[in-house]
Amino acid sequence: MRLELRAVTKHFGSLAANKNVDLVVEPGQIHGLLGENGAGKTTLMNVLYGMITPDSGQILINDGVVIIRDPRTPLPKESAWCTSTHAYPGLHGRRQHHPR
Ligand SMILES: Nc1ncnc2c1ncn2[C@@H]1O[C@H](COP(=O)(O)OP(=O)(O)OP(=O)(O)O)[C@@H](O)[C@H]1O
Ligand SMILES: [Mg+2]
Repeated sequence: MRLELRAVTKHFGSLAANKNVDLVVEPGQIHGLLGENGAGKTTLMNVLYGMITPDSGQILINDGVVIIRDPRTPLPKESAWCTSTHAYPGLHGRRQHHPR
């Protein structure tokens, strides 16, 4: 599955939680989203699974624009986005995906 975000923007009032976020995840890739507290990571993941509706921007799956209206919107079954930093207890950041 190929995922692409184009200029995804989400404001809470006057605060821009996500501002023109562009991202491409090619098939088979695994990405970690890192950033300081309040950078907008959770907001972006909430947009991706339909918990939050972005103000503007596009989400494309396999090069087609998708409208993710709510968390029940069907997505390709090979996709997974995880907002937890505790998938493996005691491991953080990059090591989440390279447990020894
Ligand atoms: N429901 C909301 N209402 C108002 N402001 C919000 C809401 N959700 C997030 N924000 C604000 O949007 C900005 C981004 O928050 P977000 O939770 O996406 O950041 P984060 O990168 O996940 O931070 P953390 O590392 O602390 O989890 C912050 O300034 C936050 O206070
Ligand atoms: Mg967060």
